[in-house]
Amino acid sequence: MLVIANWKAYVEDARKALLLFAASKRAARATGISIVLAPPAPLLGILSRNNRSTVAFCAQDVSATTGGPETGEATAAAYAAAGATYALAGHSERRTRGDTDQIVSEKITRALAHGLTPVLCVGERERDGEGRYLAYLREELTEALKPLAPKERANIVVAYEPLWAIGKDASLSIEPNDLAEMTLYIRKVLAELLPGKSSSRSRILYGGSVESGNIRALAASSGVDGFLIGHASVDPLNFPQIVKRLI
Ligand code: PGA
Repeated sequence: MLVIANWKAYVEDARKALLLFAASKRAARATGISIVLAPPAPLLGILSRNNRSTVAFCAQDVSATTGGPETGEATAAAYAAAGATYALAGHSERRTRGDTDQIVSEKITRALAHGLTPVLCVGERERDGEGRYLAYLREELTEALKPLAPKERANIVVAYEPLWAIGKDASLSIEPNDLAEMTLYIRKVLAELLPGKSSSRSRILYGGSVESGNIRALAASSGVDGFLIGHASVDPLNFPQIVKRLI
Protein backbone atom coordinates (compact mmCIF):
# COMPACT_ATOMS: atom_id res chain seq x y z
CA MET A 1 0.00 0.00 0.00
CA LEU A 2 1.08 3.51 -0.85
CA VAL A 3 -0.17 6.49 1.12
CA ILE A 4 0.48 9.99 -0.20
CA ALA A 5 -0.20 12.84 2.21
CA ASN A 6 -1.23 15.90 0.24
CA TRP A 7 -0.62 18.77 2.64
CA LYS A 8 -1.98 21.29 0.13
CA ALA A 9 -1.54 24.73 1.71
CA TYR A 10 -2.63 23.54 5.16
CA VAL A 11 0.93 23.40 6.51
CA GLU A 12 2.72 26.74 6.52
CA ASP A 13 5.54 26.47 9.05
CA ALA A 14 8.57 24.31 9.58
CA ARG A 15 7.63 23.29 13.12
CA LYS A 16 4.38 21.66 12.07
CA ALA A 17 6.05 20.15 9.01
CA LEU A 18 8.74 18.55 11.18
CA LEU A 19 6.13 17.18 13.60
CA LEU A 20 4.22 15.58 10.74
CA PHE A 21 7.41 14.20 9.22
CA ALA A 22 8.44 12.61 12.53
CA ALA A 23 4.96 11.10 12.97
CA SER A 24 5.07 9.77 9.40
CA LYS A 25 8.47 8.14 9.93
CA ARG A 26 7.18 6.39 13.05
CA ALA A 27 4.05 5.24 11.21
CA ALA A 28 6.09 3.95 8.27
CA ARG A 29 8.38 1.99 10.61
CA ALA A 30 5.48 0.56 12.60
CA THR A 31 3.40 -0.52 9.61
CA GLY A 32 5.77 -1.09 6.70
CA ILE A 33 3.45 1.03 4.57
CA SER A 34 5.07 3.33 2.01
CA ILE A 35 4.38 6.92 3.01
CA VAL A 36 4.99 9.82 0.67
CA LEU A 37 4.64 13.42 1.82
CA ALA A 38 3.60 16.24 -0.49
CA PRO A 39 4.42 19.45 1.39
CA PRO A 40 4.43 22.99 -0.01
CA ALA A 41 7.65 23.39 -2.01
CA PRO A 42 9.86 25.34 0.44
CA LEU A 43 9.00 22.95 3.26
CA LEU A 44 9.77 19.93 1.08
CA GLY A 45 13.31 21.23 0.72
CA ILE A 46 13.72 21.56 4.48
CA LEU A 47 12.39 18.07 5.27
CA SER A 48 14.10 16.06 2.59
CA ARG A 49 17.60 17.22 3.45
CA ASN A 50 19.53 14.30 4.96
CA ASN A 51 16.42 12.11 4.92
CA ARG A 52 17.47 8.55 5.72
CA SER A 53 14.00 7.17 6.32
CA THR A 54 11.71 5.29 3.96
CA VAL A 55 9.38 8.30 3.82
CA ALA A 56 9.59 9.85 0.35
CA PHE A 57 8.60 13.24 -1.02
CA CYS A 58 6.21 14.41 -3.70
CA ALA A 59 5.77 17.72 -5.50
CA GLN A 60 2.17 18.97 -5.33
CA ASP A 61 2.64 20.23 -8.88
CA VAL A 62 5.51 20.81 -11.29
CA SER A 63 6.00 23.45 -13.92
CA ALA A 64 5.18 22.56 -17.51
CA THR A 65 8.23 24.62 -18.50
CA THR A 66 11.83 23.53 -18.76
CA GLY A 67 13.16 26.45 -16.78
CA GLY A 68 14.60 29.80 -17.80
CA PRO A 69 12.90 33.19 -17.54
CA GLU A 70 9.77 31.88 -15.75
CA THR A 71 9.35 33.77 -12.49
CA GLY A 72 7.49 31.76 -9.89
CA GLU A 73 7.75 28.40 -11.65
CA ALA A 74 9.23 25.38 -9.86
CA THR A 75 10.46 22.86 -12.42
CA ALA A 76 10.59 19.08 -12.11
CA ALA A 77 14.40 19.38 -12.14
CA ALA A 78 14.29 21.71 -9.14
CA TYR A 79 11.96 19.35 -7.29
CA ALA A 80 14.18 16.38 -8.04
CA ALA A 81 17.18 18.36 -6.77
CA ALA A 82 15.24 19.16 -3.60
CA GLY A 83 14.62 15.48 -2.89
CA ALA A 84 11.23 14.72 -4.43
CA THR A 85 10.71 11.36 -6.12
CA TYR A 86 7.01 11.73 -6.98
CA ALA A 87 4.98 14.56 -8.52
CA LEU A 88 1.24 15.12 -8.59
CA ALA A 89 -0.06 16.16 -12.00
CA GLY A 90 -3.55 17.39 -12.74
CA HIS A 91 -4.87 17.72 -9.23
CA SER A 92 -8.36 19.22 -9.51
CA GLU A 93 -7.25 22.23 -7.49
CA ARG A 94 -4.65 22.93 -10.22
CA ARG A 95 -7.07 22.15 -13.04
CA THR A 96 -9.47 24.81 -11.69
CA ARG A 97 -6.55 27.24 -12.01
CA GLY A 98 -6.07 26.51 -15.67
CA ASP A 99 -4.31 23.17 -16.09
CA THR A 100 -5.75 21.61 -19.24
CA ASP A 101 -5.24 17.95 -20.21
CA GLN A 102 -2.45 19.10 -22.49
CA ILE A 103 -0.67 20.98 -19.72
CA VAL A 104 -1.12 17.99 -17.40
CA SER A 105 0.48 15.78 -20.02
CA GLU A 106 3.42 18.18 -20.39
CA LYS A 107 3.89 18.18 -16.63
CA ILE A 108 3.96 14.37 -16.65
CA THR A 109 6.62 14.47 -19.36
CA ARG A 110 8.73 16.91 -17.32
CA ALA A 111 8.37 14.80 -14.19
CA LEU A 112 9.41 11.61 -16.00
CA ALA A 113 12.37 13.37 -17.61
CA HIS A 114 13.75 14.11 -14.15
CA GLY A 115 13.09 10.74 -12.57
CA LEU A 116 9.95 11.72 -10.68
CA THR A 117 7.07 9.23 -10.64
CA PRO A 118 4.01 11.15 -11.86
CA VAL A 119 0.75 10.75 -9.98
CA LEU A 120 -1.93 11.59 -12.51
CA CYS A 121 -5.05 12.85 -10.74
CA VAL A 122 -8.38 12.28 -12.48
CA GLY A 123 -11.99 12.40 -11.37
CA GLU A 124 -15.42 13.51 -12.36
CA ARG A 125 -17.13 16.64 -11.06
CA GLU A 126 -20.43 14.83 -10.51
CA ARG A 127 -22.02 11.44 -10.82
CA ASP A 128 -24.87 11.49 -13.31
CA GLY A 129 -27.37 8.68 -13.76
CA GLU A 130 -26.38 7.92 -17.35
CA GLY A 131 -22.76 7.02 -16.76
CA ARG A 132 -21.34 10.13 -18.44
CA TYR A 133 -18.78 10.28 -15.64
CA LEU A 134 -17.21 7.12 -17.02
CA ALA A 135 -16.71 8.72 -20.43
CA TYR A 136 -15.30 11.80 -18.72
CA LEU A 137 -12.79 9.73 -16.81
CA ARG A 138 -11.78 7.80 -19.91
CA GLU A 139 -11.15 11.07 -21.72
CA GLU A 140 -9.07 12.54 -18.88
CA LEU A 141 -6.88 9.43 -18.81
CA THR A 142 -6.58 9.22 -22.57
CA GLU A 143 -5.75 12.90 -23.11
CA ALA A 144 -3.07 12.89 -20.43
CA LEU A 145 -1.44 9.64 -21.57
CA LYS A 146 -1.83 9.82 -25.35
CA PRO A 147 1.12 12.17 -25.97
CA LEU A 148 3.47 9.91 -23.99
CA ALA A 149 5.58 7.08 -25.33
CA PRO A 150 4.16 3.64 -24.40
CA LYS A 151 7.06 2.96 -22.06
CA GLU A 152 6.46 6.25 -20.22
CA ARG A 153 2.79 5.43 -19.72
CA ALA A 154 3.74 2.35 -17.74
CA ASN A 155 5.48 4.43 -15.06
CA ILE A 156 2.51 6.44 -13.95
CA VAL A 157 0.47 6.21 -10.78
CA VAL A 158 -3.19 7.12 -11.20
CA ALA A 159 -5.09 8.83 -8.38
CA TYR A 160 -8.84 8.66 -8.76
CA GLU A 161 -10.24 11.69 -6.97
CA PRO A 162 -13.88 12.50 -7.71
CA LEU A 163 -14.32 16.22 -7.13
CA TRP A 164 -17.60 15.74 -5.29
CA ALA A 165 -15.78 13.75 -2.60
CA ILE A 166 -12.82 16.09 -2.01
CA GLY A 167 -12.59 18.12 1.18
CA LYS A 168 -15.77 16.74 2.79
CA ASP A 169 -15.86 14.15 5.56
CA ALA A 170 -15.88 10.37 5.56
CA SER A 171 -19.69 10.17 5.45
CA LEU A 172 -19.68 11.99 2.10
CA SER A 173 -16.81 10.02 0.57
CA ILE A 174 -17.26 7.31 -2.04
CA GLU A 175 -18.87 3.99 -1.08
CA PRO A 176 -16.49 1.00 -1.13
CA ASN A 177 -18.51 -0.85 -3.80
CA ASP A 178 -18.55 2.22 -6.06
CA LEU A 179 -14.81 2.54 -5.58
CA ALA A 180 -14.34 -1.11 -6.55
CA GLU A 181 -16.25 -0.44 -9.75
CA MET A 182 -14.18 2.66 -10.55
CA THR A 183 -10.88 0.88 -9.88
CA LEU A 184 -11.88 -1.87 -12.30
CA TYR A 185 -12.95 0.66 -14.89
CA ILE A 186 -9.68 2.62 -14.64
CA ARG A 187 -7.72 -0.61 -14.96
CA LYS A 188 -9.69 -1.46 -18.08
CA VAL A 189 -8.94 1.93 -19.65
CA LEU A 190 -5.27 1.64 -18.68
CA ALA A 191 -5.14 -1.80 -20.27
CA GLU A 192 -6.12 -0.13 -23.55
CA LEU A 193 -3.58 2.68 -23.21
CA LEU A 194 -0.54 0.90 -21.80
CA PRO A 195 1.75 -1.48 -23.66
CA GLY A 196 1.39 -5.24 -23.27
CA LYS A 197 0.26 -6.34 -19.86
CA SER A 198 2.01 -3.50 -18.03
CA SER A 199 -1.28 -2.01 -16.77
CA SER A 200 -1.61 -4.93 -14.37
CA ARG A 201 1.31 -3.36 -12.47
CA SER A 202 -0.12 0.19 -12.52
CA ARG A 203 -0.87 1.57 -9.12
CA ILE A 204 -4.28 3.13 -8.63
CA LEU A 205 -4.90 5.33 -5.60
CA TYR A 206 -8.11 6.80 -4.28
CA GLY A 207 -8.45 10.31 -2.83
CA GLY A 208 -11.41 12.27 -1.52
CA SER A 209 -12.27 12.53 2.18
CA VAL A 210 -10.26 9.53 3.28
CA GLU A 211 -10.23 9.53 7.07
CA SER A 212 -9.67 7.04 9.88
CA GLY A 213 -13.37 6.13 9.81
CA ASN A 214 -13.50 4.93 6.21
CA ILE A 215 -9.99 3.98 5.07
CA ARG A 216 -10.23 0.36 6.15
CA ALA A 217 -13.54 -0.24 4.36
CA LEU A 218 -12.27 1.57 1.27
CA ALA A 219 -9.13 -0.56 1.19
CA ALA A 220 -10.84 -3.87 1.89
CA SER A 221 -12.21 -5.00 -1.44
CA SER A 222 -11.89 -2.04 -3.77
CA GLY A 223 -8.70 -3.15 -5.49
CA VAL A 224 -6.94 0.17 -4.85
CA ASP A 225 -3.20 0.20 -4.22
CA GLY A 226 -3.28 3.11 -1.83
CA PHE A 227 -4.64 6.53 -0.99
CA LEU A 228 -4.07 10.23 -1.55
CA ILE A 229 -5.08 11.91 1.68
CA GLY A 230 -5.64 15.64 2.04
CA HIS A 231 -7.11 17.33 5.12
CA ALA A 232 -6.83 14.24 7.33
CA SER A 233 -3.08 13.98 6.64
CA VAL A 234 -2.10 17.20 8.42
CA ASP A 235 -2.94 16.18 11.96
CA PRO A 236 0.18 14.62 13.53
CA LEU A 237 -1.89 12.53 15.95
CA ASN A 238 -4.56 11.40 13.53
CA PHE A 239 -2.47 10.68 10.44
CA PRO A 240 -0.50 7.77 11.97
CA GLN A 241 -3.80 6.28 13.17
CA ILE A 242 -5.18 6.40 9.64
CA VAL A 243 -2.10 4.63 8.27
CA LYS A 244 -2.33 1.97 10.98
CA ARG A 245 -5.86 1.10 9.90
CA LEU A 246 -4.37 -0.34 6.74
CA ILE A 247 -2.64 -3.21 8.51
P1 PGA B 1 -9.19 15.47 0.99
O1 PGA B 1 -8.29 15.83 -0.26
O2 PGA B 1 -8.63 14.24 1.63
O3 PGA B 1 -9.11 16.68 1.89
O4 PGA B 1 -10.58 15.23 0.48
C1 PGA B 1 -7.78 14.86 -1.10
C2 PGA B 1 -7.07 15.53 -2.26
O5 PGA B 1 -7.59 16.53 -2.77
O6 PGA B 1 -5.99 15.09 -2.66
